[in-house]
Amino acid sequence: MTLERLEEARRAFLSDLEQAGGDAGAVEEVRIRYAGRRSGMLQELTAVLKTLPNEEKRDYGRELNDLKKLIEEKLKEASGGASAGTAGRRRAAIDVTLPGRRPRRGAQHPVHLVRRRIEAIFLSMGYSVEDGPEIEDDWHNFEALNIPPDHPARDDQDTFYFTDGHVLRTHTSPVQARVMERQQPPIRIIVPGRVYRRDSDLRHSPMFHQIEGLLVDEGITFGHLKATLETFLHQLFVGVDIRFRPSYFPFTEPSAEVDISCIFCNGSGCGVCSRSGWIEILGSGMVDPRVFERVGVDPERYTGFAFGLGIDRVAMLLYGIPDLRLMFSGDQRLTRQFA
Ligand code: FA5
Ligand code: MG
Repeated sequence: MTLERLEEARRAFLSDLEQAGGDAGAVEEVRIRYAGRRSGMLQELTAVLKTLPNEEKRDYGRELNDLKKLIEEKLKEASGGASAGTAGRRRAAIDVTLPGRRPRRGAQHPVHLVRRRIEAIFLSMGYSVEDGPEIEDDWHNFEALNIPPDHPARDDQDTFYFTDGHVLRTHTSPVQARVMERQQPPIRIIVPGRVYRRDSDLRHSPMFHQIEGLLVDEGITFGHLKATLETFLHQLFVGVDIRFRPSYFPFTEPSAEVDISCIFCNGSGCGVCSRSGWIEILGSGMVDPRVFERVGVDPERYTGFAFGLGIDRVAMLLYGIPDLRLMFSGDQRLTRQFA
């Protein structure tokens, strides 16, 4: 039985080598398949030797040695022919008329696609795009935004702290403060960027993306906020329900969160929306006068609204991605679908 395996291997080798013709690449493939050091057939067949009963070992060993010699010689001939002999060289030469290996077409990441769409909508409304640091100081991430030292949002469980008191920004709102510190109204900006929290489940990732919006001028009301967000959301989503829900943020008063009907269950309740039928996508409100005071904008003269939207949540809903963390897994099976 075992000797038959050697004979089979010999026949397979000779036929594969014949098929390789003089092509150097193909010969190399055959070499790897049969004489490869890691998982070549010869190596496998050698391993069999140890498992045989003593009386079979001698015959098997002899045949195996013959096979080894044969394979070595034939490979030498073939590769010598492929690289040295003139006829062989002609056969082994690279055929430049063959089509090349095509690089796969790249794709933009869903988060990037959504960010660009959102930016386009707000740019068309006259907003400009601002940027800010991801490593933020306590003042901009918390204090200036009227988040007192004992506020639960500062909890170690939510915030990544550096030992020197800096934090990985937990939202894009610190950029509101930075812009108002250096610029007087009218202000009309959006701020896309990465933010970080200790949070991980179907709808939460420890690194995610927000777009902050801030509009400050004389005579701005909650009506402006609602009209702006509704106009924006109806351009972004088609055929979903939107609801405003009263909420609380230390830096806005009054505040509202906006939910979108869950596209995975059409609002009937599923694992993705925690059986509620809704997925929260943004927080918003009228800028609290205390924030204006802290950053040097006159609260008697100006009012404004702000919002912070989760870009990844929107991508999830727009493209039907059931687990937000998939987007940051680096799995090309996801991103390829956007080529
Ligand atoms: C805030 O971060 C406020 N700064 C938003 C704001 C800005 C309110 C300006 C008022 C004025 P919140 O923690 O709710 O709020 O997050 C805002 C949005 O980010 C959420 O609606 C959600 O869409 C998204 N989000 C929050 N946590 C995560 C997370 N871990 N992973 C992915 N998206 C998240
Ligand atoms: Mg929220």
